[in-house]
Amino acid sequence: MKDRQPLGDVPAEEFRKQLHELADWIADYREHIGERRISPNDKPGAILAQLNATAPETAAPLNEIFADMERVIVPGVAHWAHPQFMSYFGSTTTSPGILAEMITGALNVNAMTWRTSPAATELETLVLDWLRQWLRLPKQFGGVVYDTASISTMHALAAAREQAAPNARTVGLSGLGLPAFRIYTSDQAHSSVEKGAIAIGIGEDNVQRVPTDGQFRMNVSTLREMVATDVFNNFKPLAVVATVGTTSTASVDPIPEITKVCREDKMWLHIDGAYGAGLALLPECKWVTAGWSEADSIVINPHKMLFVPFDFSALYVRDIGRLRRLFALAPEHLHLRDPVGAEINYMDYGVQLGRRFRALKAWVVWRAFGRAGMAARIREHLRLAKLFADWIQQDKRFELSAPVVMGVVCFRLTTAGDDQKVDTINSKIVEQINASGRAYLTQTKLRGRTVMRIGLGNILTTEQHLRNVWEIIQNTAEEVGT
Ligand SMILES: Cc1ncc(COP(=O)(O)O)c(C=O)c1O
Repeated sequence: MKDRQPLGDVPAEEFRKQLHELADWIADYREHIGERRISPNDKPGAILAQLNATAPETAAPLNEIFADMERVIVPGVAHWAHPQFMSYFGSTTTSPGILAEMITGALNVNAMTWRTSPAATELETLVLDWLRQWLRLPKQFGGVVYDTASISTMHALAAAREQAAPNARTVGLSGLGLPAFRIYTSDQAHSSVEKGAIAIGIGEDNVQRVPTDGQFRMNVSTLREMVATDVFNNFKPLAVVATVGTTSTASVDPIPEITKVCREDKMWLHIDGAYGAGLALLPECKWVTAGWSEADSIVINPHKMLFVPFDFSALYVRDIGRLRRLFALAPEHLHLRDPVGAEINYMDYGVQLGRRFRALKAWVVWRAFGRAGMAARIREHLRLAKLFADWIQQDKRFELSAPVVMGVVCFRLTTAGDDQKVDTINSKIVEQINASGRAYLTQTKLRGRTVMRIGLGNILTTEQHLRNVWEIIQNTAEEVGT
């Protein structure tokens, strides 16, 4: 029949040709990324308007698809790997990471059980153990890889709930008639704590925000008071989520003091080190790990500071068996045996059944750079952050809005006018810079005031790029702020 579609994959020769072309395209993209505008300045819907709304009925040649990709999609993304993209926590794209993602795509295995891909499971065990050692966590801590810190923290809180109310797995929280659980976290902590509480039936209102000190660290005496008041009012304190590297300023909560409160009041201590835990790779930053070995769980996102491509989040739990007790179910069709030795079924340690082979990219990147290579790069990011802070302090129009602890700098133009006017101007500077396509910053609120923020973490960013961004900020401040 004339209109019969060919079966099977695209012809092997065509695939090989496209792969070679794509290899060149990716290498060119990487080499010349600094020449691109960082982000489009289009209105929502502008990209959709350029794409065919009719679902494809017949096959299109790959050439044609990739041409559309170059014409519409690539100019429509924010180029996180651009060396002057300094939003959020920088970007961790690396060449070894890109190569590893290509291999992962080709293998396309499901790492749900050991049997569904033994190497995926065993590599996950291996890289988790490397990372555990780099984080100086005792051997007792077991790990599991998820996609994001939000999911890791939700699982950590679920483990805390398992400890306090083991029957919740079977009968649900409402069936237990317990007092309401409370979770404590600082006013600087990430909203993933509330999301986790919502997801596991504890409720957003039962996440209590503890005020922070002048350096944006959890105020431990207030934590004690809040816990005591809650106990008096018949709530059940469940957990504290302390942060190492908060989202706005990268501040670090006083973990050793918080640990004491948790031990006294029998609360679970979860550390959100999504960004900041990576600092542990630097021997001179040993201070950052103080108290970690006493925690019950800790999350780190190696896709933030440790050069693994998005997404990769590692959760370590002192008694990882809690997660297994909470989530292991053995559907008949998987033909599971009792796990022994390396025959771990990581699907038992969380909600997900199917799991990507994320360990491969961590294994490739961490071998390609080594701990020393990663530490040297992180050290450079810290140097650049301090250098930028010096420039801020030398320009009397600006002020630093928070101490510089990691590769994050918060600052503010302090022009004449009331606070609200200054807020608007700072916000306008960020919007104008981002719209220019030449640099990309974040704005955040600290103590109710709008500040500008840069995050350094991109391995392509050099001192010259930082100087360019500083010049753009100064010039835009001149235009907008006076
Ligand atoms: C401190 C902190 N924790 C958690 C998260 C949530 O991360 P994810 O996007 O991996 O869920 C973020 C996000 O930036 C963060 O900064």
